[in-house]
Amino acid sequence: MPPTTAMSVTFNSGLVLIGFMGAGKSTVGEALHRHTGWPLVDLDGLIVQRQGLTIPEIFSKQGEEAFRRYETEALQSLVAKGPYILATGGGIVGRAENWPLMRKLGRLIYLRAEWATLKSRLAGCTGRPLAASEGSRRGLRDLLEQRRPLYEQADLIVDTDNRGVDEVVREILERIKEAE
Ligand code: S3P
Repeated sequence: MPPTTAMSVTFNSGLVLIGFMGAGKSTVGEALHRHTGWPLVDLDGLIVQRQGLTIPEIFSKQGEEAFRRYETEALQSLVAKGPYILATGGGIVGRAENWPLMRKLGRLIYLRAEWATLKSRLAGCTGRPLAASEGSRRGLRDLLEQRRPLYEQADLIVDTDNRGVDEVVREILERIKEAE
């Protein structure tokens, strides 16, 4: 299990976006990048670049375990650099060793959304192996429930239901400022 207490990090050390598939991590990441000027790193994108394979190809040719290993390795490759705006993949919270790495990379922000919101955002999606088929989609709600307590260990929880990107970003920036 990941640690339950947050390591102290300065707010200038980067922002790490976590949350389920469809939570808006990449979109919010883009906007935060524009506001802060910090480089945006999309962890899935970095994995694709490092492996020379798409995410569905990694899952189908090498399996999920290999993908999870690549996620940890990609995180390790970022530590001691930055600060970044880092958009992670939804499953990053599942491996205990990812937590100290993420905490080193900055303040963890959970982009929270209700199941109904996520479901509609994921409808028709093909690029996510865990959500691509009707069969796999059925297990997604359980997966969300399993991961929820992990996401909730973030430093900041921000609701995204029925809210536009600008509103979400404004809240993140205000709350970070307040806590500084
Ligand atoms: C996954 C989420 C995906 C991607 C991979 C696995 C997950 O990223 O990392 O398909 O296990 O939740 P997004 O959350 O950006 O869709």
